[in-house]
Amino acid sequence: MEMGYEKKDFGENFVWGTSTSAYQIEGAHNIDGRGPSVWDHFSHQKGKIKNNENGDKACDFYHRYESDISLMASLNVDAFRFSLSWSRIFPEGIGKPNQKGIDFYHQVIDTCLASGIQPWITLYHWDLPLALEERGGWINRDIIYWFSEYVNFCTKTYGDKVKHWMVLNEPLAFTGMGYLRGLHAPGKKGIRQGLSTIHHAVLCQAEGGRIVRRNVPDAQIGTTFSCSYVEPYTRYPRDEQAAQKLDALYNRLFLEPALGQGYPLEDLSFLQKIENYFHPEDEKNMVFDFDFIGLQNYTREIASHSWLAPPLWAKAVPAEKRKVPITTMKWEVYPPGIYHLLKKFSAYDKVKKIYITENGASFEDKVEGEEVLDERRVKFLQSYIGQVLRAKKEGVKVEGYFAWSLLDNFEWENGYRPRFGLIHVDFTTQKRIIKNSGLWYQNFLGQSV
Ligand code: BGC
Repeated sequence: MEMGYEKKDFGENFVWGTSTSAYQIEGAHNIDGRGPSVWDHFSHQKGKIKNNENGDKACDFYHRYESDISLMASLNVDAFRFSLSWSRIFPEGIGKPNQKGIDFYHQVIDTCLASGIQPWITLYHWDLPLALEERGGWINRDIIYWFSEYVNFCTKTYGDKVKHWMVLNEPLAFTGMGYLRGLHAPGKKGIRQGLSTIHHAVLCQAEGGRIVRRNVPDAQIGTTFSCSYVEPYTRYPRDEQAAQKLDALYNRLFLEPALGQGYPLEDLSFLQKIENYFHPEDEKNMVFDFDFIGLQNYTREIASHSWLAPPLWAKAVPAEKRKVPITTMKWEVYPPGIYHLLKKFSAYDKVKKIYITENGASFEDKVEGEEVLDERRVKFLQSYIGQVLRAKKEGVKVEGYFAWSLLDNFEWENGYRPRFGLIHVDFTTQKRIIKNSGLWYQNFLGQSV
């Protein structure tokens, strides 16, 4: 095979899948008792999302899950990673659950199982019930109680059928983009509140893990992180230091507290004040012994010192300026980055197992009749997966790969323009076409092991 490896090189137990998240695909935002989430509220405000788009309909997965899962099964995947919409299950975030919402996920899970696909559930992929945001959301320490109730309910409800659980999706993204920079829902800005959301997310991450363990003792429990391999722009000490800071921010901030190492304060001095939010037992409660961690990787970052970028005094040099290959998100295509990240994360003794829970790219795909030409995505997948194998061969315990994403979907503040799917979606007609990258994945996964 031209790319130099075969499926069997990954071993029999390697898990191959695709990932999605509730708000990005489900639509049906006000149907069957679903309550509003922060993303409904945010996307309905003018000027927040490109072209003022929103996830009201998205891929209409809520009504099309059966045909979408059968299309997914045709790709020969082993597993489907999706998230639960908290406000579909608890329209007010807490209190009375919504039976129709509960039933919906039973049906999704049952359809997966009947199609030979393992359901992997992410408990939280950013769509906080609006009612809870109105009480302070992630800034309010009560989030630990609200989240615990929600996790307790979901794991008791689905735990007999679902054995792979991920507590949070990319906490850096929903705290940083949602509460520090204001680019994501709920659109708040400010360092002080940002710090409290980081601390509360770290506590929920571990507490969520403990609840899954208690309710589903035979579960594999993980949580996911957005990670980028960081290198300095030059070898000058100031840039080296900048790289160290960005690395701490992107790759260590949420992992190390869970491992019992605390926050990386020596590299992120702006975090010092996070201690104001500590309660007596927090140090201990931040820790949980995850069975696996989920790495999500899209790009590499090149760091340089900057007097204009407080409080880190470090910035990422845009890929566009560096004249490297980029995606339509302007993210650098750099396959060895995923290899370096895998090596880096596996160097922590307490990281037992790693899954790549997201990796993918948005490109300008060309639709020609019934064919979607996306050769750059085919290449992207082939090279990134090749680098995963390289790490595995060197002893990294990486045991699965999930492509982001099954379908083109609602790409948060960027609306529907960036297309990450293995399956093309026409958002006017909701017609699906498996792209050439999906066909490549199907063919690759169809190989016998
Ligand atoms: C998120 C996804 C998102 C993808 C591409 C990840 O950060 O988990 O929800 O669509 O990146 O931006």
